[in-house]
Amino acid sequence: METVVSGIRPTGNLHLGNYFGAVRNFIKMQHDANCYFFVADYHSLTTHPHPDNLNATVKQVLAENLACGLDPEICTLYVQSDLPETAELYLLLNMLAYTGELERSVSFKEKIRKDPDNVNAGLLTYPVLMAADILIHKAAKVPVGKDQEQHLEYTRNYVNRFNYLYGVEYFQEPFAYNFGGQLVKVPGLDGSGKMGKSEAEGNAIFLIDEPEVIKKKVMRAVTDSGPTHMNQPKEVAIENLFTLLKLVSTTETVAHFETLYNNCTIRYGDMKKQLADDINIFIAPIREKIKAIAADEKYINKVVKMGAEKARQSGRKTLAEVRNIIGIRSFF
Ligand code: ADP
Ligand code: TRP
Repeated sequence: METVVSGIRPTGNLHLGNYFGAVRNFIKMQHDANCYFFVADYHSLTTHPHPDNLNATVKQVLAENLACGLDPEICTLYVQSDLPETAELYLLLNMLAYTGELERSVSFKEKIRKDPDNVNAGLLTYPVLMAADILIHKAAKVPVGKDQEQHLEYTRNYVNRFNYLYGVEYFQEPFAYNFGGQLVKVPGLDGSGKMGKSEAEGNAIFLIDEPEVIKKKVMRAVTDSGPTHMNQPKEVAIENLFTLLKLVSTTETVAHFETLYNNCTIRYGDMKKQLADDINIFIAPIREKIKAIAADEKYINKVVKMGAEKARQSGRKTLAEVRNIIGIRSFF
């Protein structure tokens, strides 16, 4: 079975975009591959989260992903810092990473542009740590979005440099991967781009949103003044609402509103009400599960411990082999 690794950033709550764009893929994939999913808490230190918040954020991210259907009995779900072997592999890979190459990374350049007062070395070597995450389990596939493509290219460079330098065929090149091949882009409610947590307030529907909150956000979604002639092409904002409807409503509901739009009798208020109801029907069981899991300290602790043990089994083996190849051999 192929090995798959992916990291989950511990930043904020999951929204519908995360669910349909990423988490749903993880859930499907866990049945078909040997999957390692981890919460990237080491990575998050590049932006200096407050020590009082880090643990709670990691816990919430775990609860939300578990509630969506990640099964810790099937995949390996762990916290990155529970596998410190990753940090040692990161150190070793740093010797194969060229600073010039890292400085040319698109995400590094963007990060230093956005926050010029915090250009730390951890930020520069972010792709090396990511390579360590992937190579510690010798993964072949990495389910990530387009923005992570360059990081994987760096990982492949380190693989080739390592194998060449030590004259081995130890690591294999990992590649980005989309389950089923189709990428879903979930639009936001502001009438423009994608749903995202850093977009304008109210643009994203979070999996923890209560019915009233969902309703308020959807009712405020951007629309136009309505179609004036039969089969009029839709404005982006309207197309977005239909895209969301298609994700959460039945095909009959979608067809119903398509017909009303095409014969110019649609009332956006009715459609939004239906959309809010259907989003709530979709989210409600996940939301309740998030609350239940987040409140069950014992369960989360058990999951994290089990994940750490499984991850360490794989990680320790890789690190021992890598140390041996490099020539780090213990004297005692
Ligand atoms: P955000 O854009 O809210 O900051 P992240 O960048 O943390 O979200 O995304 C985490 C994962 O969710 C990534 O794999 C990303 O591709 C996916 N994702 C985020 N927003 C969307 C969206 N609107 N549609 C589809 N996938 C998305
Ligand atoms: N960089 C990824 C992101 O921003 C998260 C991540 C960290 C990751 N380590 C990884 C993803 C290893 C895949 C494999 O989304």
